[in-house]
Amino acid sequence: MNNHSIIEAAVSFVKNELEFEPSGHDWWHIERVRNLAVAIAKQEQADLLVCELSALLHDIADEKLNDTKEAGLEKVCSWLMSHGAERRLMDHVMLIISTMSYNGGKNPPMDTIEGKVVQDADRLDAMGAIGIARTFIYSGATGRPMHQPGKDFSDADYRSSEKSAIYHFYEKLLKLKGLLNTDYARELAEERHAFMESYLNQFYKEWDLMEEGGD
Ligand code: ADP
Ligand code: NI
Repeated sequence: MNNHSIIEAAVSFVKNELEFEPSGHDWWHIERVRNLAVAIAKQEQADLLVCELSALLHDIADEKLNDTKEAGLEKVCSWLMSHGAERRLMDHVMLIISTMSYNGGKNPPMDTIEGKVVQDADRLDAMGAIGIARTFIYSGATGRPMHQPGKDFSDADYRSSEKSAIYHFYEKLLKLKGLLNTDYARELAEERHAFMESYLNQFYKEWDLMEEGGD
């Protein structure tokens, strides 16, 4: 398969698998990450095919959408094999999608420039106006509350599944800017980060008025 055909085939595969995914991993997330990855790859002189294909396939293997991480990776691996991907391309894409996830910021840095590009693209889509929307969608889809003043940050030992959407800003979203790999992604992140900060200011302003105003 030539480069164009494998990309087109990946688009159909991913649309089919994720079109109606309800927790923030729908097709449009994939399409945005793909476009960001291509834009960053051009600035960084990274391999466009590796970046675009990895971006398209990156959430097919997500642990949340499969029985296990291994089963998800196996699905991607057999898709690549059955679509005639060369060994080198397949190994690189598999390496990227198996190691790029946020994981509390604890995964070691990506080895290749293409890995850094795709990871940055996925992280940028978790920031800014869209990142905020995805957080509230995810929280709603998983039964999490919007905000619970005082509770999320207290020492109380309660599960992550009970933490609010607002808590997720502190747990992840506001940390992403400092975890980016490439200069161009850092440039794109500035406005998104500032927007999240001003969103939180406005949120608390409205919330505090509600508290002051009583019931
Ligand atoms: P991705 O790797 O594609 O960003 P994730 O599975 O980490 O996907 O998250 C999907 C979306 O849901 C992201 O925008 C993320 O910030 C948000 N999200 C993930 N975990 C939580 C959570 N515990 N509470 C609220 N939003 C979350
Ligand atoms: Ni993603």
